[in-house]
Amino acid sequence: MQSPAGSTLVIQNLNKKFKTRENEIIALQDINLNIHQGEFISIVGRSGCGKSTLLRVIAGLENDYEGLVVLGNKQISRPGLDRGMVFQEHRLLPWLKIKDNVAFGLADNLGGEKIRIVQEHINLVGLTGFEKAYPHQLSGGMAQRVAIARALVNRPQVLLLDEPFGALDALTRIQMQQEILRIWEAEKTTMILVTHDIDEAVYLGDRVVVMSSRPGTVKKIVPVALARPRDRSSYDFIQIRKAIYSEFFADAEKPFAYAI
Ligand SMILES: Nc1ncnc2c1ncn2[C@@H]1O[C@H](COP(=O)(O)OP(=O)(O)O)[C@@H](O)[C@H]1O
Ligand SMILES: [Mg+2]
Repeated sequence: MQSPAGSTLVIQNLNKKFKTRENEIIALQDINLNIHQGEFISIVGRSGCGKSTLLRVIAGLENDYEGLVVLGNKQISRPGLDRGMVFQEHRLLPWLKIKDNVAFGLADNLGGEKIRIVQEHINLVGLTGFEKAYPHQLSGGMAQRVAIARALVNRPQVLLLDEPFGALDALTRIQMQQEILRIWEAEKTTMILVTHDIDEAVYLGDRVVVMSSRPGTVKKIVPVALARPRDRSSYDFIQIRKAIYSEFFADAEKPFAYAI
């Protein structure tokens, strides 16, 4: 199929069910989303609403789905080098040095190029000098930078980030948000970031996709037309955050008050 002009990832009428022995879970229902090349998309939603499932479908890790999920005119049915993924845990191999972790998924036929490419990506994530360190010698934020370098080393068109900063402390998290923006501006990779932090979603995204649960659907897509770097305390930023908060709680029974 032909993608709409300027659109790299096309998702149309996507449905994904999980069949267990007792019942059937509709994880994703009728998802429609066009993501443009170089766009930064944030996805927010409650736990269990299907965010990871959506990323796994795009990654090619879940291929038993209905609908169209097309990247560069090709239906996604398996993992490929055109997509990289970063998870909440870094998933580095503890017995390999940082440079070897980054090199792990890189094609073997690159010869001397391989060393240069690995070094370039270690530099890109700000870890020059740590090539020979092992994962246990790094802080959580540094290990996550290695995971980002490893996901980018094959020059994917799309980087999928599944709550990548969820396990980091608040200050490191803010630092990593700035870092991922710097990388995005330098590399122009399409970014799809799942987070349950609304502030993070608005700070980073060109658009914020708000999902609702049971079944997992796209409830609203909120554009963030604010210039970068963004000021989290500006009136406009707070208004957008507020709009997303109210989407989040519109269908809940207002279980608690929230301050914004
Ligand atoms: N492999 C699986 N088998 C059965 N159910 C699953 C599987 N993976 C996810 N689910 C279910 O699908 C729904 C969406 O899960 P998930 O995508 O992990 O949500 P989120 O990432 O938004 O927290 C949940 O109800 C979850 O229990
Ligand atoms: Mg998840």
